Amino acid sequence: MYKNKIVRILISIFVFTLFLNVDLIVSQNSIYQSFTENSNEKILPPPILPNMILEEAIFMRKSVRVFSENEVTDEELSTILWAAYGFRSDGRRTVHPIDGVYAAVIYVFNESGVYRYNPINHSLILYKEGDMRDKIDILQYNAPIQLGLCWDSTKADPNLGGAELGQVGQNIHFMAVALGLGTVVTGQSPAAIAPVGLPKNEEGLILMPLGHPKDDYDFTYRPLWFSFLPKIKHSKITVSDAINQRLNGTEFLGKLTRQELSQIIWSSYGFSYYIDNILGPSNLVLRHRTVPSAHGYYPLCMYICIESGVYKYIGGLPNCDLWGLPIFSFLLRLNAEDVRQSIAQACNKSEISTASMFIVSILDLEATRKWDDLSNESLWRFWYYEAGASAHNVQLEATAWNLSSTILVPKDVSLIRSSLNLDNRYFPLLVVPVGKN
Ligand SMILES: Cc1cc2nc3c(=O)[nH]c(=O)nc-3n(C[C@H](O)[C@H](O)[C@H](O)COP(=O)(O)O)c2cc1C
Repeated sequence: MYKNKIVRILISIFVFTLFLNVDLIVSQNSIYQSFTENSNEKILPPPILPNMILEEAIFMRKSVRVFSENEVTDEELSTILWAAYGFRSDGRRTVHPIDGVYAAVIYVFNESGVYRYNPINHSLILYKEGDMRDKIDILQYNAPIQLGLCWDSTKADPNLGGAELGQVGQNIHFMAVALGLGTVVTGQSPAAIAPVGLPKNEEGLILMPLGHPKDDYDFTYRPLWFSFLPKIKHSKITVSDAINQRLNGTEFLGKLTRQELSQIIWSSYGFSYYIDNILGPSNLVLRHRTVPSAHGYYPLCMYICIESGVYKYIGGLPNCDLWGLPIFSFLLRLNAEDVRQSIAQACNKSEISTASMFIVSILDLEATRKWDDLSNESLWRFWYYEAGASAHNVQLEATAWNLSSTILVPKDVSLIRSSLNLDNRYFPLLVVPVGKN
């Protein structure tokens, strides 16, 4: 009798384990071997996982708008989609769930139809048959693939949807660079993807064309001329591993070194050490930043809160430069107060007050009113996109230095404003505590 019982228990454990394998995607092999194709679902091949070093991918991030006709292979698309929103080998996702929510949905447009990316089994599910790339948005850039980034409005509001998609878009950017592909974030309101007819609970935000750049990447290495912060170093981690191993934590100890501070702060909003030669032999110098920005406005200010005080990050001074080169990068000390406890309290997370550093992304509304006024609250989702992209960079860069971090939404905006001495012109978007585990 006992023997039978043991056999029954063993069989139950076996069946349960099989179920877990399918449901939680415990190992990468199980992703691809547990499912068979049916006519509406195409299982993607395993991602390629390129070995470009993380900082190199950040240095090379740029918007590519003109593409060759060379096709994007299934392996390349698989890699991009895995990085964008897939499951990692430990069963977690490649981006952080802000407020514990995953709301993103990705649509893939190619010459044969529109597909929905299914991260659970890393597949594409047919959504609409036929080439619809011309139906979406008159402003789109022609490319073999268009990626439609949407969010489920029953799970997240437009701003948090935007912040999550900012993380997704960064991974697409970095993986594209590592694979020799190109992409650009494009955002319109109303959403460019709308003509496709999304389910009622989904809203579109971003369209990213994906293909091989018509012009090769062509950069010259020229570090910032002068910086009060230690020079940015290449870590040893690849962009694939940084995404696969992104450290998340809410309990912190110890202090960061100056090098670690410099690396992480730079990743949030700094300039590349590469000059883009795409402008040819002109006097103009093009240097990209670590994140893209709608209209190139870059209206965020990164406030750095550490034990010794509150600082504003100046990634470069484009108006005080030589041939367009940002030559200074430094931390501008605003006061000598340790406000980390107040910032943690404003996020309803007093347990994180021991983090060595908080990076608070602040939207400067004046900087969103230039040749086109993008200050309206209905457009803030695009600024949250940028803040999400920046926060994700910080998480990846922190991982490269074996540090952990998390992404929080301020619950008490007034407390953040009073702690940082800001008036109503400024609005805090996201808070990223960083520290040692
Ligand atoms: C939310 C968002 C929306 C954007 N929308 C567009 C767009 O509609 N068309 C476009 O060509 N670029 C768009 N961009 C890209 C920016 O123009 C670009 O990031 C900026 O000019 C800096 O150039 P770089 O990315 O090459 O460094 C967008 C970027 C973001 C973050």
